[in-house]
Amino acid sequence: MKYDTDAQASIDGYHRILADYKQAAPKGAELVALEGNHDRRIYSYGVSRAYNIAAIRAAGDPIPAHSLQRLLRLDELGYHWIEDYPRGRFEIAPGYWAIHGYKVRKNAGETAWANIADLGVSVVCGHIHTGAKVHHTKPAIGLSLEGIESPCMCGDQGYEIFPDWDHGFTVGWVDDDGRCHGEVVRWIDGKLRYPRGWR
Ligand SMILES: [Fe+2]
Repeated sequence: MKYDTDAQASIDGYHRILADYKQAAPKGAELVALEGNHDRRIYSYGVSRAYNIAAIRAAGDPIPAHSLQRLLRLDELGYHWIEDYPRGRFEIAPGYWAIHGYKVRKNAGETAWANIADLGVSVVCGHIHTGAKVHHTKPAIGLSLEGIESPCMCGDQGYEIFPDWDHGFTVGWVDDDGRCHGEVVRWIDGKLRYPRGWR
């Protein structure tokens, strides 16, 4: 099938992307990679078909050899690897989580809303290939949350009939008072659509 892609090509490509991110990041930046549902497939494939060797480790190494932490050489790249999908999360700032994502709602924005309503914190997620931002504010209890669906940069993988994926990414910042905010940046017709003045 068209989407029976080569696992080795995926590992090599993922490593290249992470290396590019590192090169583009400011010196000394904290680099974090979050495990997603697709990242678990090599390990779970091994567990279901070759249980005895799925978790095999190099001598003296506590990390399984077939883990993405080892296959992507994340330690060498300097990335902090957060696993335990779907619960794995990175707290960008107090009360603002980055997760891969596990909920799927039909329309852009609905998943972001479901995340913040269920978790009670601000959340940026991927997983659903849409780009959206929603807010949830209740001044009486001092609540001001935002939920972001971060778009993807995937091409058509062949498993959707008419992929309605939004392309782009999310940028974020932490203000002096410790509050975190994010904005979705879209990639349309081969161009990043930043707000005017952003670079
Ligand atoms: Fe996913």
